[in-house]
Amino acid sequence: MHFISSVLLFSTPLIALAAPFVDHASTKGYEVGTFYVNWAIYGRQHFVTDLPSTKLTKVNYAFANINATTGEVFLSDPWADVQFHYPTDVVSNITNSTILYGNFNQLFKLKQQNRNLKTVLSVGGWSYRGNFKTALATEETREVFAQSALELVMDLGLDGFDVDWEYPEDETDAANLVEAVKRLRELFDEYSAEHADGYHFEITISAPAGPLRYSVLPIAALDAYVDEWNLMAFDYAGPGFSNTTGHLSNVYPSTSNPASTDFNTAQAIAYYTSHISSPSKIILGMPLYGRSFAHTTGMGKPFNGSGDGTWEAGVLDYKFLPLNGSTVYTDRKVVASWSYDNRTGQLVTYDTPEIQTLKTQYLKREGLGGAWWWDSSSDSTGETSLVNTVSEALGGVGVLKKKENCLTYPGSKYDNVRGQTAVARRH
Ligand SMILES: *[C@@H]1O[C@H](CO)[C@@H](O)[C@H](O)[C@H]1NC(C)=O
Ligand SMILES: *[C@@H]1O[C@H](CO)[C@@H](O)[C@H](O)[C@H]1NC(C)=O
Ligand SMILES: *[C@@H]1O[C@H](CO)[C@@H](O)[C@H](O)[C@H]1NC(C)=O
Ligand SMILES: *[C@@H]1O[C@H](CO)[C@@H](O)[C@H](O)[C@H]1NC(C)=O
Ligand SMILES: *[C@@H]1O[C@H](CO)[C@@H](O)[C@H](O)[C@H]1NC(C)=O
Ligand SMILES: *[C@@H]1O[C@H](CO)[C@@H](O)[C@H](O)[C@H]1NC(C)=O
Ligand SMILES: *[C@@H]1O[C@H](CO)[C@@H](O)[C@H](O)[C@H]1NC(C)=O
Repeated sequence: MHFISSVLLFSTPLIALAAPFVDHASTKGYEVGTFYVNWAIYGRQHFVTDLPSTKLTKVNYAFANINATTGEVFLSDPWADVQFHYPTDVVSNITNSTILYGNFNQLFKLKQQNRNLKTVLSVGGWSYRGNFKTALATEETREVFAQSALELVMDLGLDGFDVDWEYPEDETDAANLVEAVKRLRELFDEYSAEHADGYHFEITISAPAGPLRYSVLPIAALDAYVDEWNLMAFDYAGPGFSNTTGHLSNVYPSTSNPASTDFNTAQAIAYYTSHISSPSKIILGMPLYGRSFAHTTGMGKPFNGSGDGTWEAGVLDYKFLPLNGSTVYTDRKVVASWSYDNRTGQLVTYDTPEIQTLKTQYLKREGLGGAWWWDSSSDSTGETSLVNTVSEALGGVGVLKKKENCLTYPGSKYDNVRGQTAVARRH
């Protein structure tokens, strides 16, 4: 029972601990989150104002960068993040005013419209993964990390912070990550007690689903400071890193075609669950994209190169799937789907609405806390939308987790975030 000490820091997980397989919706509701990527404003032409915000409880903003030398967390694209003007922005002429524009201003507006929507800044990701090791290596740099993360949350009017280090490699990395997250928890709590009416700013971890990665992650030690584990339950197979075609996000391993399932979600869920205080802290990541293999005879078979891509070879937006001329297949045993074109020999591993509905049933059965997607720009609209599909399979907006967001940021350097305090207090 190594997790008992962490349980004591929270009150709600005790319920789930006593009855781990209770339908989570009947206790505190489901988190429904999505990653929004700050490069979506360019080629993808997908804006914060396009998010299906009434169906969501959380937006994870990707990504902030981290300085490998100093540990400072900083915005990776200030133009997209805080500068460019949305069509509805009123540009201030007041001398010396500091106004938040860009994506974060729109996120703040969404929070004012939907008080149940939380916004979280995610640091790292695949692009900036190389910076963590040295950035978190000393007490001094970890202090800079935590202070700068708090400052961004405070300035930008956010509700929490997500750490996406892909991936800690050894015990030293693991210990440094725990110290960094612990310090951030302390700073959030001190800040909040003084300036935000004790609001609980969240800390989440974007967490790997591969055993080689999660076995190095100090899950049990981190759990005391972590509100949610965003399980990255995808990228199990792809043309750049697999030896045969395979499923990118299957729940279970295949006994009939083991080459098609190098990884599986169930194994990762079992591992995390045994190291944390409650499975309800795990939010199940789902893909809004597919990975395409060229020149293959089918699933679990050799291939040659990447297939079509929307923005890069081998990766296709869900909204463009299935490809014309291909047939869609479903393996309900492993909970996975794919499309195959027997004229071109192209195979695409991706989730259909049926598969994400089955995954929703799985996450309910396992007592997980909800779902999230990578990433919002590639969903379709209407009937086939995966966000809509899962939202309905969970039980609709009535079963969403209810936790009011924060609108009180008296220390923000932005006049239009700081100035909202009075509005917030009227609620
Ligand atoms: C990291 O910080 C150092 C020291 O302030 C600075 O010289 C360097 O340019 C920074 N690196 C990045 C990528 O911002
Ligand atoms: C700001 O100044 C510009 C140019 O003088 C003017 O066109 C605009 O209407 C002003 N905006 C506001 C909000 O006053
Ligand atoms: C604006 O800021 C500058 C530089 O900080 C300062 O010198 C100036 O007095 C300020 N003007 C007003 C009107 O506050
Ligand atoms: C792919 O093949 C290489 C070379 O045979 C092997 O080392 C590696 O483990 C294989 N990868 C997987 C995921 O099976
Ligand atoms: C794979 O594709 C490359 C380039 O399209 C080609 O040169 C090569 O012969 C192919 N390999 C096999 C085994 O078919
Ligand atoms: C796929 O087929 C539809 C309907 O037949 C057509 O409108 C669309 O342009 C086709 N897409 C591609 C990529 O060929
Ligand atoms: C190729 O797929 C199409 C569509 O599913 C099917 O009608 C056809 O019989 C298949 N051809 C072969 C040679 O398997």
